[in-house]
Amino acid sequence: MASGVKREQWSSHLGFLAAAMGSAVGLGNIWRFPYLAGSNGGGAFLIPYLVGIAVCGLPLLMFEYAAGRHYRLGVMGAFKAMSRRYEVVGLAIAAMVFFILSYYLVVAGWTLGYLIATPIGKEAGFSAFTATWWPVACFVVTAVVCCGVVMLGVTKGIERTSRALLPLLAVVIVLMAGYGMTLEGRGEALSFLFKPDLSALGDPLVWARGFSQAFFSLGVGMGVMITYGSYMARESAIARSSVIVASGDVSVALLAGLAIFPLVFTFGGPPGAGPQLAFETLPQVFSHMPGGMLVGSAFYLLLFVAALTSAVSMLQVVAATISDRTGWSTSRATRWLVLPLLGLGLLSALSYAPADLRFFGQPVLDLMDTTFGTFGLLVGALVTCIAIFWLADGLAMKEQVGHGAPRRFVAWSGFLLGRYVAPITLLASLATLAASLIVLGELRGR
Ligand code: TRP
Repeated sequence: MASGVKREQWSSHLGFLAAAMGSAVGLGNIWRFPYLAGSNGGGAFLIPYLVGIAVCGLPLLMFEYAAGRHYRLGVMGAFKAMSRRYEVVGLAIAAMVFFILSYYLVVAGWTLGYLIATPIGKEAGFSAFTATWWPVACFVVTAVVCCGVVMLGVTKGIERTSRALLPLLAVVIVLMAGYGMTLEGRGEALSFLFKPDLSALGDPLVWARGFSQAFFSLGVGMGVMITYGSYMARESAIARSSVIVASGDVSVALLAGLAIFPLVFTFGGPPGAGPQLAFETLPQVFSHMPGGMLVGSAFYLLLFVAALTSAVSMLQVVAATISDRTGWSTSRATRWLVLPLLGLGLLSALSYAPADLRFFGQPVLDLMDTTFGTFGLLVGALVTCIAIFWLADGLAMKEQVGHGAPRRFVAWSGFLLGRYVAPITLLASLATLAASLIVLGELRGR
C-alpha cells in the first residue's frame, strides 16, 4: 500500500454529493430501468426494485462509504486492510468494474451518436445506426472524454464535471416528465407504471431482476462507493448523504418512467420493447411527434450526461486501485488505462457495428452485460457484504455511519440487513438467475 501521493479530498460536502449522485444516476436509471419495468410487468417491477433499494442497497451504500472513509483506500486496499486474504477479491472487483465500464461506455457512445444525429434529423433507427461505424467512433470519443475527466483528478475533474452537469440533468428530466404529463397517454402510462399487475410478483425472476437493478442503479457492490468514500471529509454525515443519494436515484428512475411511457403510449410503440426501448422505439416516437427533434435531443443529452458521470466513477475505482498499489497519482494510472480500455471496449463496440462481433452466438456486449453487469454485480455485492459486515472492524464502521444518525437505524441497517438479509437475498437472486439461464437458456435482463 504505497502511498507516494497525498490522497485527494472532495472540496466540499456538496461536491461529494454531486459526484456520488452523478455516479448513481446513469444509464441504469434512464435506459435500463424503463425497459426493465416495461418488460417485467410495469408497476409490478417497482416493488422488488424498491424493496431491493431499501433492504439491501441503502445499507450497502452507507457502509461502503464508511469503509472507504475509514480505511482511506480504494477497494483492493480496503479489502486487504480488512483481511489479508481478501486482497485478491478486491482486485477481482476492480477488474470486473473495468469490464462493466468497457461496455457501459459503448452504450454511452450510442447516446452520443443519437445526440448528434437527432438535431440534424438524421435519425434512422437502431439497425440503421449500427450498420455504420458511427457507434465505434462514438465509443472512442466517449472513452477518451471519460479518461480525460479522471486524469484531471478528484476535485478538478470528477467533482467539477458532476457539479456542472447534474443540475442540467435535473432540469431536463423534470421538464421531460412535465411534458409527459401533458400528453394524452399519461393516464395509461401512470396506470402502467403505478398499478402493479400483482400476478407478475409470483415470478421469482422478476424479483431477481428487480434486485439486480437496485444494485446497478445505486452503483453498489463494485467498490465505487468505497472509492468515493475514501475522499470524503471526516465531518460529512454518511447516513444522511446515503439517504439523499438513494432517494435521488429512485426519483430519477421514476421521472424517467414518467417521461418515457406517456410518449410511448401517446405516439404508439410497445412499452415492453426491451433494451431497444431508448434506441429503437423512442426515436420512432420522436420522429412522429410535433417538436420531436427538440424533445429527442434533450433526451439524448440527458442520457449522455448521466452516463458520463457514472462511467467516470467506475474508471476512478480502477485508477485508485492502481494508485494505492503503486503510489502513482490516479492521473498517471489513468494514462496507462486508456489503451486497455479502448481495446476491451472495442470488442463490445464491434458487436453492434458492421463487424457484428459475436461470441457463442451472442453479441459481445450482451455477453458482457450478462456476465459482469448482472451476475458479476450480484457476486460483487455479495462479497462486499461479507467484507464490510463480517470482516471489517464493525465498531469503526458503525462509528463512521453513526455520526449524526439515530443509533437504532445504524444497528438495524448494518447488522440485521447487512449481515443477514442482504447476503441471503443476494444468494437467492443469484440462484434464480443461474437456474433461469440453465433452464430457459435466456437471461438478457428481460
Ligand atoms: N449506477 C450507474 C447507473 O445507474 C452505473 C454504475 C455506476 C454502476 N457505478 C457502478 C453499475 C458500479 C455497476 C457497478 O447507470
